[in-house]
Amino acid sequence: MSIETIVIVGAGQAGASAIIELRQHQYAGKIILIGDEAHLPYERPPLSKDAILNPDETKLEILSPQKLQDLNVDVILNQSVQKIHRNEHVVELTNGNKIPYDKLLIATGAAPRRLPMLDALGKHVYTLRTLEDAQALISVLQPKQRLVLVGGGVIGLELASSARARQAEVTVLEVNATVMARTAPRLLGDFLLIQHRQAGIDIRLETEITQANIENDHIVIDINNAEQLHADAIIYGIGVIPNAQIAIDAGLDVDFAILVNENCQTSDPDIYAAGDVATQLRENGQYRRIETWENANLQAGIFARHVMSIEQPKANPAWFWTDQLGFNIQFAGDMTVTDWHMINIEDTKTAGPAFVIYGLKDDVIVGGITVNAARKMRAIKKMITSQAHFESLIETA
Ligand code: APR
Repeated sequence: MSIETIVIVGAGQAGASAIIELRQHQYAGKIILIGDEAHLPYERPPLSKDAILNPDETKLEILSPQKLQDLNVDVILNQSVQKIHRNEHVVELTNGNKIPYDKLLIATGAAPRRLPMLDALGKHVYTLRTLEDAQALISVLQPKQRLVLVGGGVIGLELASSARARQAEVTVLEVNATVMARTAPRLLGDFLLIQHRQAGIDIRLETEITQANIENDHIVIDINNAEQLHADAIIYGIGVIPNAQIAIDAGLDVDFAILVNENCQTSDPDIYAAGDVATQLRENGQYRRIETWENANLQAGIFARHVMSIEQPKANPAWFWTDQLGFNIQFAGDMTVTDWHMINIEDTKTAGPAFVIYGLKDDVIVGGITVNAARKMRAIKKMITSQAHFESLIETA
């Protein structure tokens, strides 16, 4: 069957990348991009950092209107897909319009997990996912503002760093015994904890909000039923929930996220999913959802190649990064192992600590983290791919 129309739902990183990949792989048919935001696809990683601190100098655009025109893409913004009519191969929009597809890509991303106790306050409470969310935070991250950040994960710590740069008074409340536990090993979490505390950020571990009220136009919260904090604003980042409702309604296989095979195909072979909304069957036979910028791009590429019947390249170790307090931290490979070894980098041009941490399984390097040592990343990825032994690395050092 020839493919005449590909519809992409979700104008985020995966959606944008899918367009580029399809055209690079000589797909000549129609592409329709449907997004529920008011914007063309934009980069989300800067939203917690430069988009707040230097909004005028920060370029977020992934695909300009001109580029989309050159790539011959029909763009529909401010509309969400309400329903997928699988039998008819049609998606139905909020405005009732029906759009036919031959192949459909669901790239709807994820939304912040809600904390109803805080949402109920009605004001001075923020989350961060969209450009509008970041713009709203510009006036919140201001000198002397008392900010409480709930969640010591990627969003919480990056925002804590940005808020300190603005001389706000920052408290982070983390329910776990360490920070960044979802994405990083304990060793790195402990390093970040020390750095944030040294920067004047009050990080409270094993801490939860037990009550929240507004008094005299500021927020009063009880933590662990033991102490009261006063805040001018609360921002929370306690993880995300995949935007998988249209897939659930369409009867696709969904397990929190949309289940896709190694080719990013859902349980309906004409429907694919990519990015934060998808959980993909991996080489080890297990499903895994990866919430990263790189994964959105990679899965968009997998989708495009599969649609065009092009062979898939071998997977590289997963990679992501975070920027906090002037530290550029990059991660590759498996972050779940427990055996980590730190090696300091001596010849760095950057002031302050710079090091690499290697994650080992039976002495084989399976993961690596660079802290202000990005130039080591390429070699680390190679070591992971070639299953290099840590012992031989030490011997040659
Ligand atoms: N109170 C305090 N902390 C909590 C609570 C709670 N009720 N519930 C969860 N947490 C903590 C978790 O223990 C975790 O440390 O919130 C943190 C959430 O961190 P992440 O899982 O990294 O999620 P988040 O920071 O919200 O980032 C969401 O945005 O930038 C992207 O890549 C990032 O995809 C990720 C997404």
